[in-house]
Amino acid sequence: MTVNPGRTRTGQIRHFLDLDRFDTETLRRILDLGAAYKRGDKPFGKDKPLAGRMLAMIFEKPSTRTRVSFETGMKQLGGDCIVLSKGDTQLGRGETIADTARVLSRYVDAIMIRTDDPDKLAQLAEYASVPVVNGLTDLTHPCQVMADIMTFEEHRGPLDGKVVAWVGDGNNVAASWIQAAAHFGCEMRLACPPELCPNTNVVDWARKQGAQVTIGTDPKAAVAGAHLVLTDTWVSMGCQDTNRANLLAPYQVNDALMALAQPDALFMHCLPAHRNEEVTDSVMDGPQSVVWDEAENRLHVQKGILTWCLL
Ligand code: CP
Ligand code: NVA
Repeated sequence: MTVNPGRTRTGQIRHFLDLDRFDTETLRRILDLGAAYKRGDKPFGKDKPLAGRMLAMIFEKPSTRTRVSFETGMKQLGGDCIVLSKGDTQLGRGETIADTARVLSRYVDAIMIRTDDPDKLAQLAEYASVPVVNGLTDLTHPCQVMADIMTFEEHRGPLDGKVVAWVGDGNNVAASWIQAAAHFGCEMRLACPPELCPNTNVVDWARKQGAQVTIGTDPKAAVAGAHLVLTDTWVSMGCQDTNRANLLAPYQVNDALMALAQPDALFMHCLPAHRNEEVTDSVMDGPQSVVWDEAENRLHVQKGILTWCLL
């Protein structure tokens, strides 16, 4: 427990921005907190450790899971939250992110933002004097991947030495998984159309940390012997190029593809899924799918994130 709530030992505000900003020990601590909340433990010794605390959530894009899991989590921890959509706030009329950060910091104890541009997240964190949480940008989705890791661990144990296959668009969720590989010792094998390869800065960073990341175009090669198979929508929110079916059809996760993975491989999808596009009903609803646990774990791990940020 820190003596300086909301700040790291070096006095920095405890933002939860991206997995490449963390040491592995801190991510482990957050995952352990999430698992403790799921078990019904009280890791801070209180029923309502965030009593009196307020979270503001800015949504510049739609959300079901992120919105409901953060709001539920905050309330279960004794706090409360305010949901702000871009159109309802002065952000929609041109007030800057920096000014919004300064003002919200005078009212609330933490700010979560879902936005397009990662620079907006960075600006919010620069100008806020309270912790900022990344609820998805076009570049990354770290809360999701923390829930994914928690889900893998509860079903199959540590990720270390495991093969994780990502099939389809090399998008924001893929980028956070690549960053996670640098912390948790899994091999990341991505199969993406050449036009939709993951962000090169993210890949370069992970490789520099010693992560094993391979990027190819063959889904079968990526999935062969994998312990976890992941995919996501062909068209992410805000993506202008909505006509990607031809490009991505060969990357559908179906029974034939899953059969190439380990016999006990898990299937995950951050959701929302476009059934029978990126994944067939048979896989989504099949015995290897843990997508509902994965969605549930957003709640638990984000309670870990919120208490790490604020206590
Ligand atoms: N997976 C995820 O972030 O879902 P929402 O878009 O519904 O929040
Ligand atoms: N890649 C998806 C994730 C949704 C949770 C998107 O950005 O729309």
